[in-house]
Amino acid sequence: MRNLGSNIKITVDNLTVNYNDDGPDDAPIIIFIHGFPFNKTAWNKQVTALKDNYRVIAYDVRGHGNSSAGDADFSIDLFAKDLLDLMDALKIDKVVLCGLSMGGYIALNAVEKYPDRFDALILSDTNCIADPPETKEKRMKAIESIKEFGVEKYADESIKNLFAPESFLTKKEEIAAVREMIVNTNKETLYKTLRAFYERKETCSRLQDINIPVLIMVGKEDKITPPEAAQMMHEKIEDSVLKIIEHAGHLSNIENPSEFNNQIEALVSTVYY
Ligand code: MLT
Repeated sequence: MRNLGSNIKITVDNLTVNYNDDGPDDAPIIIFIHGFPFNKTAWNKQVTALKDNYRVIAYDVRGHGNSSAGDADFSIDLFAKDLLDLMDALKIDKVVLCGLSMGGYIALNAVEKYPDRFDALILSDTNCIADPPETKEKRMKAIESIKEFGVEKYADESIKNLFAPESFLTKKEEIAAVREMIVNTNKETLYKTLRAFYERKETCSRLQDINIPVLIMVGKEDKITPPEAAQMMHEKIEDSVLKIIEHAGHLSNIENPSEFNNQIEALVSTVYY
């Protein structure tokens, strides 16, 4: 029997995963994977808009939101395995997978390893490269800074880069909600995920093997994973669609949800018609 609604708990391979599951039983399924260090509520504007026509599942990545962290070191491989474990536990065979930033790293890893489990892929504000040396250095400095000055300062510094300039005037509530997500993320999860990013392998060299429909979206003013990164993935994935989202920085699903959701619907309607 399917559990419907918000904050559902399921124990998968000794890990408690917390997820939302909305929408009709027999509708196409979209699974949403949030960025770092956020949680499943980052997808609220997608869930609300899409749940009449699709079964929409948004879950908290290991250690984030209300999911437990387990004892293992974090890695993108582990996060991708967690996703497949969750799909198996929910008895879901195939889905459209949508990941933003860290969610995109996980989605690319999962599609590469388990290509038969996905009907389409939506990559938003993400990248296929491994961290260059200067970014690796920033990861370690971020860990030191959180240890020394606390997570509030880390949140304030992060926020400056996450949004398009105009969002600071027009999206104050959303920015406050994102700040809450950051400060409420467990410190161990921050450290373990930053280390996982540091160790992350590139996925660019395997993009040519993806043979499902792919939609790539990026905020026009994304400073973290800029439009050039999206363009590079678009060139490598045959027949992929690239959409630059206006009025948005790194969190394009939150900054311009109507355009973001329209693009999802356009893709999904071509997959299941
Ligand atoms: C995210 O939004 O998930 C992060 O910006 C990813 C990263 O720092 O590489």
